[in-house]
Amino acid sequence: SANSMWGGRFAAGPDAIMEAINASIGFDRRLYAQDIRGSRAHAAMLAATGIISDSDAEAIGKGLLTVLSEIEAGDFPFQTALEDIHMNVEARLKEVIGEPAGRLHTGRSRNDQVATDFRLWVRDQCDAAIEGLRALIRATVTQAEAGADWVMPGFTHLQTAQPVTWGHHMMAYAEMFGRDLSRFQDARARMNESPLGAAALAGTGYPIDRDMTAQALGFDRPMANSLDAVSDRDFALEFLSASSICAVHLSRLAEELVIWSSAQFSFVSMSDKWSTGSSIMPQKRNPDAAELIRAKIGRILGATVALFTVMKGLPLAYSKDMQEDKEQTFDAADTLMLALAAMTGMLSDLTANRDRLEAAAGIGFSTATDLADWLVRELGLPFRDAHHVTGSLVAMAEGRGVDLPDLTLEDMQSVHGQIRQDVFNVLGVHNSVASRQSYGGTAPDQVRAQIARWKEKLA
Ligand code: ARG
Repeated sequence: SANSMWGGRFAAGPDAIMEAINASIGFDRRLYAQDIRGSRAHAAMLAATGIISDSDAEAIGKGLLTVLSEIEAGDFPFQTALEDIHMNVEARLKEVIGEPAGRLHTGRSRNDQVATDFRLWVRDQCDAAIEGLRALIRATVTQAEAGADWVMPGFTHLQTAQPVTWGHHMMAYAEMFGRDLSRFQDARARMNESPLGAAALAGTGYPIDRDMTAQALGFDRPMANSLDAVSDRDFALEFLSASSICAVHLSRLAEELVIWSSAQFSFVSMSDKWSTGSSIMPQKRNPDAAELIRAKIGRILGATVALFTVMKGLPLAYSKDMQEDKEQTFDAADTLMLALAAMTGMLSDLTANRDRLEAAAGIGFSTATDLADWLVRELGLPFRDAHHVTGSLVAMAEGRGVDLPDLTLEDMQSVHGQIRQDVFNVLGVHNSVASRQSYGGTAPDQVRAQIARWKEKLA
């Protein structure tokens, strides 16, 4: 059957394959609320500017609300033949209110319509990500506060490096998620301009009021160039890019939780709520939620690359390629919100094993740097020489299968004659972390100061 929108131009309807490749209603129905909101703003503006009559605008506005409630009640007759959400809504509006429905599309195109709908949707997702990140940072700060002075190994190359505190490690993620949050805020502010009224690409001859529709839709202002307004999807790319960076942070934390919850580390105990057992191995408690966060993050990175790839070769202005912006962005947003919620839940129900952390903190000569620093501070050795002396002491301890504090003063003096008994004060892991008082360092005082700053920020 002829498509009702192009009936005059196309005698026969598209065949089934064309319909399958062309239709987007299967996914863009998700934009129904934004589409109806945009259309209501447009109709009100058309009446305010005298382009259509008040009574037509009123019929359109009311009819659109009827359509909205039909969709929300789940009894809307979506039709693939009508291609997308815009034409589905408009066709149904025609059935509901008759002739005035045909006036809604005055001074508008599906090109500015879809750009508007999608922007409104992505803007909502920025808000959701910001809210999700706030909750996650709160969970991170709560963990940090509980163990602000619990010592644990700090790693480089996943090899013991220097002792740090649990609070310090948790607050590292608070910083990362805090930057993620601000990236979504920045992206939101930049995308908050209205494409509506750009029409197909060139603007329109009707005396429309773009400021009015921009304001009605909560945009700061109309976009200043109609070609740009209908042809860029940088707002979605920015959302996806911010999502990708956040996803990588989530994935790294997930990876640490997988490692830490292993029997070999036992740094943390996951709640039963966030783990699963094995059908064959009775002892198992697998960190499935963390693993799935780590894995699902790939979808977000993939969606980002996919949309960049869609956009990279497109001449101005609209091309149908851009219809492929939605599924990727929908999936990435869903995945991000799920991963944020799962990580927040997992972290909130996580128990850090203080004793295991502390025992592990001293393994692997983790205070060797403290010993070298003592030699510099107390004996005036150049750091490079102190490094060498310490290296010899580490080799001695390693040869005997003991830790640095297990060496005797005589052992120490056999390597450097001026070493004194008080060197042993700096070999303990608590002393080590307490000494790292530089701004942003792991000393519990410093960590508590950062916790306080974040709590104030989140309040
Ligand atoms: N479904 C289309 C999309 O998502 C709407 C815009 C169609 N515009 C057009 N000129 N065919 O991009």
